Amino acid sequence: MTVLGIETSCDETSAAVVRHGKLLSNVTTVQLIHSKYGGVVPELASRAHQQLIVPIVDESLLKANVKKEELKAISAVYGPGLIGSILVGLSFGKAMALGLGVPFVGVNHMEGHIFSNLIEDPKPAFPFMNLTASGGHTQLVLVKEPFDYVILGETIDDAAGEAFDKVAKMLDIGYPGGPLIDKYAVVGNPRAVDFPRSYLDEGSFDFSFSGLKTSVLYYLKRSGFQKRTAEFDGNFIADVCASFQASVVEVLVRKLILAAEKFSVRNIAIAGGVSANTELRRQAAEAAVRNGLKLFIPKFEYCTDNGAMIAMVGYHRMLEGNHSDLELTAEPGLSLSRSSRN
Ligand code: KG4
Ligand code: ZN
Repeated sequence: MTVLGIETSCDETSAAVVRHGKLLSNVTTVQLIHSKYGGVVPELASRAHQQLIVPIVDESLLKANVKKEELKAISAVYGPGLIGSILVGLSFGKAMALGLGVPFVGVNHMEGHIFSNLIEDPKPAFPFMNLTASGGHTQLVLVKEPFDYVILGETIDDAAGEAFDKVAKMLDIGYPGGPLIDKYAVVGNPRAVDFPRSYLDEGSFDFSFSGLKTSVLYYLKRSGFQKRTAEFDGNFIADVCASFQASVVEVLVRKLILAAEKFSVRNIAIAGGVSANTELRRQAAEAAVRNGLKLFIPKFEYCTDNGAMIAMVGYHRMLEGNHSDLELTAEPGLSLSRSSRN
């Protein structure tokens, strides 16, 4: 069973090949065109996907040493994400499946992030508690088994990665903000500014980051900061980054651990672009040890959007004989619950 996976939900064009559950290749291009605009420009993203999709798919097959005639199924994301971006990968994937006469599998991007922890060993045994924190989503999910998910909580406003990107924009340090804040924070003092921690109602597994973002904005205004200048040197920026990051990470880790305890789950996992964050990885690892839990984090290239996680979902769905109609349309607001058995 050899399956191609295509990811084009946002600004990464990626394709991967999985054979018998083993990843053979994963080729990703991050579209650099958006950085000068300080955020993803949907129209430019879909145009870039159009240009990149053929060479990226070709390269993924070449790297895997697989001919397209050997593919037994094609999988591609059909949501959630940017409509124009999704349409490129989805239409390409469906056309390729039709051309080769093989089944097509539409994949939920959020399910893909969960499967990013099932790409390489060691993999979490089921059930496990998964936190996906990315630019578009922050979601805590009890993964009972493949295709059986209970969504415990989600962000009620900004996603964690979105907050990172917006704060980086306020600090005028560049885009995407997550990796840059991560870098500055390493040399900053996380206790320099006491930003709020938003836990919402007691027992809630939902998240909220917009209040924190506003607190950072007010702090910068009070400090007279407008943009990066010699007056506001690296130390000022590093301290704000470290303090902001500390607030996000504390809430993410605390809720993940509380959810694992509440549902008596011993395996915990993090996924999505924000799981690349150094401090999140460190604190999650420490908290896991303290609480006798086993933590799983994907390799860096599988944290951010990638075709490997999509191919892996496609492969597992094919094993269950679970493929899609070619009439499947893009769903920008697709919920994970739609891909769950129960
Ligand atoms: O999963 P992803 O590649 O795309 C979405 O599905 O959104 O996540 C991208 C997000 C961006 O907001 C980016 O700033 C954030 O992940 N990110 C990070 C780090 N690396 C990427 N956030 C914090 N620390 C990082 N090291
Ligand atoms: Zn994503």
